[in-house]
Amino acid sequence: MADILIVDDEPSIREFLEVLLTKHGHQARSAESLAETRAALATSVPDLVITDFRLGRESGLDVVREVRALSLPPEVIVVTAYGTPASAVEAMRQGAYDYVTKPFDNDELLLLVERAIEKRSLRAENRRLRTTALTSGVFVGQSPAMQQVWAIVQKVAPTRATVLITGESGTGKEVVARAIHLESPRAAHPFLPVNCGALAEGVLESELFGHVKGAFTGATSDRQGILVAAGEGTVLLDEVGELPLGTQVKLLRVLQERKVKPVGSSREVPFNARIVAATNRNLEAEVRAGRFREDLLFRLNVITIEVPPLRHRREDIAELAGFFLERIAIELSRPRLSLSPEAIEALRGYTFPGNVRQMQNIIERAATLSDSDELALSTLPPLVLGTPVPLEAEPDLSLPNGFSLERHLDTIERQYLHEALRRSGGAKTKAAELLGLSFRSFRYRLAKHGLPPE
Ligand SMILES: Nc1ncnc2c1ncn2[C@@H]1O[C@H](COP(=O)(O)OP(=O)(O)OP(=O)(O)O)[C@@H](O)[C@H]1O
Ligand SMILES: [Mg+2]
Repeated sequence: MADILIVDDEPSIREFLEVLLTKHGHQARSAESLAETRAALATSVPDLVITDFRLGRESGLDVVREVRALSLPPEVIVVTAYGTPASAVEAMRQGAYDYVTKPFDNDELLLLVERAIEKRSLRAENRRLRTTALTSGVFVGQSPAMQQVWAIVQKVAPTRATVLITGESGTGKEVVARAIHLESPRAAHPFLPVNCGALAEGVLESELFGHVKGAFTGATSDRQGILVAAGEGTVLLDEVGELPLGTQVKLLRVLQERKVKPVGSSREVPFNARIVAATNRNLEAEVRAGRFREDLLFRLNVITIEVPPLRHRREDIAELAGFFLERIAIELSRPRLSLSPEAIEALRGYTFPGNVRQMQNIIERAATLSDSDELALSTLPPLVLGTPVPLEAEPDLSLPNGFSLERHLDTIERQYLHEALRRSGGAKTKAAELLGLSFRSFRYRLAKHGLPPE
């Protein structure tokens, strides 16, 4: 059921449309002038507006213009007089969804109404997803590993404990950081990520701690640092493993005293923000290598959350694929997009070295390339098809009596050769490509295993 506003200066038409639309399950209200339209929009924004092009001395174009200027604008259908194509064109140019000419056919109008409503609900959904998935943190993942991450998120969220989030690139560290923020009492305050790896030392320090006017060339006014600017919110020190050693010393003091000294100032300013840090480096190893201060590590990793790589939680692959597919479907206005069973199978078997981010790219690429709504295996990058891996999360590394690595690798090699040939339908050039081998090397291996050259 949609909320539809009818704008027409002719009472009989208003009444007719109200009855017609109500009979088809919608909620209809009407306005007879621009002023009444404004009043109706102020009460609540409808899903759809149907307006006459001529409203006495006023113009339906003004209705279109005003309605379309709303922040989540309703669709507009314009009713024009027969033989006035120019007005229809103008209405569309102002953002109308479509038009019907008088006298119109009821079925034609109803069909248009359904389409317009569908478009609007897709747009609203798109927006909702954008704001929840991108700016907040939809957290997809029913696997036990991710449920465990979620459980820790909820446990630490209400506290002020510093959390260190580790994990390979693209696993969702920032998503987890946002989730901590959103599940915390700080949710209504800002969440501010700072990429510690992307900024030069001086810039990074003034970004974090702020600076006073004249602190360095170009510092033409005082500037608040992010730690203070976040107020009661959360600051994510992203890529914290990249912090220069000099900044590490300063940050440690700042975290201990919960006060910052803006660059060039001698005054300390207290701050209340919660600190969350993320890194894809192994900070213990960085400490051993002398690149990261152990005392800072101890400050940061009061609680550590490790986000597992996607290949260790294959149960999440199909769900994540579905999530990204739904998102791109809305963006491309192709609501019927789906993945073929073979494509899902191939994704399930892939290792995703780039983790969730790579999955997102693969799905978006496939959706963009595919002409048909069902995304076939061929829309996936060759990479995905070319590296069949056993479905277990990790290879079986037991070493039974009489184990021979030589023989074991031989067996695996043979299996890969077979699989590549099967996938390429026997075409050797293609099979070699799937395995990342030159044709010569592939032929040599076939011969070594006594596999038929034909
Ligand atoms: N569990 C999840 N649910 C939904 N989307 C996710 C999830 N995990 C990751 N993503 C999406 O995958 C992309 C990468 O996630 P994110 O930026 O959090 O990774 P990261 O670990 O911070 O990567 P990097 O180390 O490269 O900074 C983002 O677009 C994010 O929205
Ligand atoms: Mg990140």
